[in-house]
Amino acid sequence: MSKLALFGGEPVRRKPFVSWPVFDGREEQLAMEVLRSGQWWRYTMGEAVDASARDTAAPPSKVAEFQQKFAAAQGCKYGIACVNGTAALEVALRAMGVGSGDEVVVPPYTFIATASAPMLIGATPVFCDIDIETFNLDPQRLEAAITPRTKVIVPVHFAGLPADMDSIIRVAARHGIPVLEDAAHSHGGHWNGRPMGSIGIAGTFSFQASKNMTAGEGGMITTNDAELAGICESLVWVGRKVGRPWYEHHRLGWNYRLTEFQAAVLLAQLERLESQTRLRAVNAEYLTAKLAGIPGIVPVRTPQYGTGRAWHVFMLRFIEAEFGIDRERFLKALTAEGVPCSSGYAHPLYRNPLFAEPGLALDYTRFADLCPSSERACHEAVWLEHRLLLGEHSDMDDIAGAMRKIYENRKEL
Ligand SMILES: Cc1ncc(COP(=O)(O)O)c(C=O)c1O
Repeated sequence: MSKLALFGGEPVRRKPFVSWPVFDGREEQLAMEVLRSGQWWRYTMGEAVDASARDTAAPPSKVAEFQQKFAAAQGCKYGIACVNGTAALEVALRAMGVGSGDEVVVPPYTFIATASAPMLIGATPVFCDIDIETFNLDPQRLEAAITPRTKVIVPVHFAGLPADMDSIIRVAARHGIPVLEDAAHSHGGHWNGRPMGSIGIAGTFSFQASKNMTAGEGGMITTNDAELAGICESLVWVGRKVGRPWYEHHRLGWNYRLTEFQAAVLLAQLERLESQTRLRAVNAEYLTAKLAGIPGIVPVRTPQYGTGRAWHVFMLRFIEAEFGIDRERFLKALTAEGVPCSSGYAHPLYRNPLFAEPGLALDYTRFADLCPSSERACHEAVWLEHRLLLGEHSDMDDIAGAMRKIYENRKEL
């Protein structure tokens, strides 16, 4: 009889892990307040930049409250809520003056939005490889990706691990290029003690269902720059201008507003963020220690500057030659042992059909040679969702125990 659950053996774990989203009566209470108030959308513009703009005759807006509280939690004066993280990137880039003919440097190991947001406003994403040890943009390769057309650099704090912002900002400053943080994975995270989203000129967040706080969908731009905040708010409000008539449109904008229902749910989620972030970090550290010594299992390391890593995904590299089986078999065996897992991105962004479309400003096939670490990351990565880190130490024991069991019985595979 096989020991491995994949072949009929007893799985390490039969109990489910913590499910996501986590919610309770608080989300219900705040959402019901919105329902009963009849104010289902926020109709006062200007509150993102100037709290005194609030229409005092109207009930307080949950969006305005959430913008203010979330921005403060991320170390910023201003927060501009919008429909999702893609829109947040698009709006922030346009507010920074990015448009047709400009280039935006992005990593290729990320969700499509980091690269598609510049494209949506006519700009060209230029890929800069990642560091295989952190899965984040490699500052050593940044210089080579910069051209006279580069308008913005967008590092992603991938999986919640801060990018090497010191080095990135040093290179960017040498060229006078602003840095926009894609912080879609970094709610509650810190870099060198500073909240993510407050380090570059602006940061963008996502509240989509998989993220560490969620209302199903949603997004936010954070910044300490009042002028930029004002432009972002105007763009989210179809180009209106604070203090000007409702039917006057000053810029080409979108209706990208968050609803009061989403803000209500997000306010409740925000109340839980700090304790959940701490719990994920404690469990991630415990799990990392438990995995030590299993050949071929290499958790993504936390550099010194990753002081308050947000842990959106527990990422590890699976080195087939050291473990002794291929990654796909390992993932199947781990799933059978009761540990949900995945291989993450199948290929770097530039290999998507979108980048082979005719008429693009760049030949994206060349990035396969320029980005060896991103190529390798797609072959080695194993992702464990952040919800797995919201349980007990015994849950971590099961995850590590399952991996060790597979290693010890790898000859069966
Ligand atoms: C790194 C990154 N940036 C941006 C986004 C876009 O966020 P949204 O899905 O809310 O549009 C995501 C979403 O998964 C992401 O992972």
